[in-house]
This record gives sequence, C-alpha cells and structure tokens, in this order.
Amino acid sequence: MNKKTILLSLALCWQSQAATAGEVEVLHYWTSGGEAAAIDVLKDLVKKRGHTWRDFVVPGGGGESANAELKKRVIQGEPPASAMVKGPDIERWARLGFLQNLDELAQKQHWDEKLPPVIADVAKFRGHYVSTPVNVHRVNWMWINKRILDDVGVAVPTTWEEFEAAAKKIQAKGYPVIAHGDQSWQDATVFESVALAVGGEEFYRLAFVENDYGVIKSDTMTKVLAQFRRLQPYFKTDLKSQDWNVATQAVINGQAAFQFMGDWAKGEFEKAGQKAGKDFVCAPMPGTSNQFLYNIDTLVMFQLKSADAQAAQQDLADAIMSETFQNVFNLKKGSIPARMDVSLDQFDDCARLSRADFLAAEKSGGLLPSIAHGMATTARVQEEFYAVLHEFLHDPGMSPEKATVTLAKRMRYGSYAIN
Ligand code: BGC
Repeated sequence: MNKKTILLSLALCWQSQAATAGEVEVLHYWTSGGEAAAIDVLKDLVKKRGHTWRDFVVPGGGGESANAELKKRVIQGEPPASAMVKGPDIERWARLGFLQNLDELAQKQHWDEKLPPVIADVAKFRGHYVSTPVNVHRVNWMWINKRILDDVGVAVPTTWEEFEAAAKKIQAKGYPVIAHGDQSWQDATVFESVALAVGGEEFYRLAFVENDYGVIKSDTMTKVLAQFRRLQPYFKTDLKSQDWNVATQAVINGQAAFQFMGDWAKGEFEKAGQKAGKDFVCAPMPGTSNQFLYNIDTLVMFQLKSADAQAAQQDLADAIMSETFQNVFNLKKGSIPARMDVSLDQFDDCARLSRADFLAAEKSGGLLPSIAHGMATTARVQEEFYAVLHEFLHDPGMSPEKATVTLAKRMRYGSYAIN
C-alpha cells in the first residue's frame, strides 16, 4: 500500500467514524458496588463502538427519585438518549409519543424468538418494541450468611413458621437476624413476598395487578400484614445507613443472618468475592419456592434529533441485546439474562435456580410482576402502597386491621389520581 492509499483509507475511516460516532446519555440509578460494575460493562461496549458515554445518575435504591428527574429533562425538551424506565411506566412515556420505535433492530436481531412473551410484552407498546430488556431480577429471594446458619445449626427455612423458629435460635445465639434498610421501597420488597406466601397467587394478582378494592380490603390482607409485623422484632437496628447495599454488606460481614432482597443483592456478594453455597446461601422467600416475582430492568430509548445521536442510540440498543452483554452484565448484576437463549454455563446455582423457576412459574401461573419494583401497577398506586406499609411499620398503634382499610383506600385513591 503506498502512502497516498494509506492516507486515503485513514481519511475514509475517520469520516465513517465521524458520521456515526455520537454521545449516549443514559439515566440510571446503579451506584452500589455490584451495580456500578455491571453498568461499566455497557459503558465499555458503547465506547468500543466509538461513542461517548454520559452518565445521568439519579441515586436512590429502587429508582425512587429517577422518575421525577426524568420528567424535568423531558419537559425541558432535553431527554437523555436512554433511561431506566420499567413496567407500566414504559407505556406512559410511549403513549405521550416520546419513545423511539425499535422494531427494525428487533427484527434484525430476532428479539421475538429470543425473549419470553412476558418480557417481550413488557418491552413493547401496542405491539412495537420501545425498550431493551437487560435482565430479569427475581424479587422473592433471601440471602443468608452460611457461617451463621451452620454455627446455629438451623436449616434454610421454607415456611414462615420455620423462619420464626430459626430466627429465635439465631437471636438466642447473639446474632442479629434480618438486615433491613428503613426505606419504604425496601419495606414493600419484603411485604410483597409475604403477601404471595400468605395469600397465594390469585390473591396477589387481584390485589396488586388488578388493584381489586375488595381483595385489598380483605381478611387475607390483614393476615399478611400481621405476618409482616411479626418480622419486625428481628430487624437489625444498628445499620450504618439505611441503603439496601449496606444491609447486604451486614450479611456479607456476618453482622446479620438474612436479607430479604431481589437478586441485585447477589451483585454485592460477587463484588466482595463471596461464592454461592460456600459463603452465602440463596433461597426463595419462605412459602414462595414455586413462584417468581419478576422485576425486569428495561432501558427505553427517547426520540432524538441529531443523526449522530440516533446512530449512537441504535448501537446502544444493539449492544444491550447482544449475547456478550447479556452474559457479562448479568454475571455482575446478580440477575439472569432477559434472552433465554443465552447459556448460563458461567453462572452460579442461584442464577440456574432462577431460570428454572422462571420457566416453571411461566407454565404454572406463578410468574407475577413485582409491585414494589414498578412492574404491577402505576407509579401513583405504588406510591400509596409504599407509604402505607412504611407508616404501618413505624406506628405500633396501627393494627393490621386498620392498615388493611387504609391500604385499600389509599391504593384506590392512587388509581384515581391523574399521573
Ligand atoms: C432495580 C435494580 C436495582 C435495585 C436497587 C430495582 O428496582 O430494578 O436494577 O439494582 O432496584 O436499586
């Protein structure tokens, strides 16, 4: 190759880079050790494709504050290229006409064949893809410090009765039992699994997906609230902060036996170099072994004006749905890939159990959307749900009967409110 040809090809190469290189700004709230390691995988893939990554981080576990920040930016006419928006909230943005249609890419990459119907439905609006699912988190998990379990000599509890018996023994040996952060979304995370265990699948669906007033205001709900309150004396009260990952850290360090949390907690064990089965145990929440409360993280793509930004955004979506991303990201995040064709060869037993239970629950009807994590109902109903549970735990004078009535009223109010 002579000098002229080299210069020409360099110029062409630079031109094609310049024509497609753009910036992708992504709103997310992945700031804990495991979460940050996971999002770094995506940042690297985007950068490798010649684009620039810009973080739009809104701290707050469970995405508590993210929605308000996103609204502000969209109202200012400056949406990010992409944002973590989940469940029914995807529909809200799509209905307002802000989201980019991703059908062309979906057809090219055969998303319909690779995603289970539940996940594809969540990612679509009126039959068109408007978001990219990065994973499936299971919410009804508990995380257990193995050394404490062995030291006390108790088995992994599979019912709430067994749990309470084990908790008494653990406490008697001087260990704090449950690491729980005092935040409403964490209360709701525990509560929904208790509700599924005590009330069953149909009760859960009617109350939290259909928001059926009569079912919410039922004796079953009172029983659920009573069981929820029975856990409170076992909460560790001296956590360094109330963040969920600080609670996970307490289990990692042997300062508490259990945490009830979705499998993003596993990302923290991973980050700390701990191994499933050896240092910690993962098990479905008592009474929910055949069920799967799902929480799917999806990144929606906003409509953008500049061609460079659009090209970078397409590359982002393309990268998210690649086998490499779905594999490496989920190894760090604690979840399983949204694409069921991605092999779990490199994953641990918790992830394998998660996929097996997902597939079994899909057939049996036990696959249900998490209300605590924005998959089951609107953000307004969820807000009311959070508030009542938090109040219930903070007001010993509020009986389960009274909380049942308040919950029904407040959730009905939330469903009438204009979003
Ligand atoms: C999100 C997870 C996140 C967790 C803690 C959940 O609602 O789906 O991706 O790791 O909150 O912030």
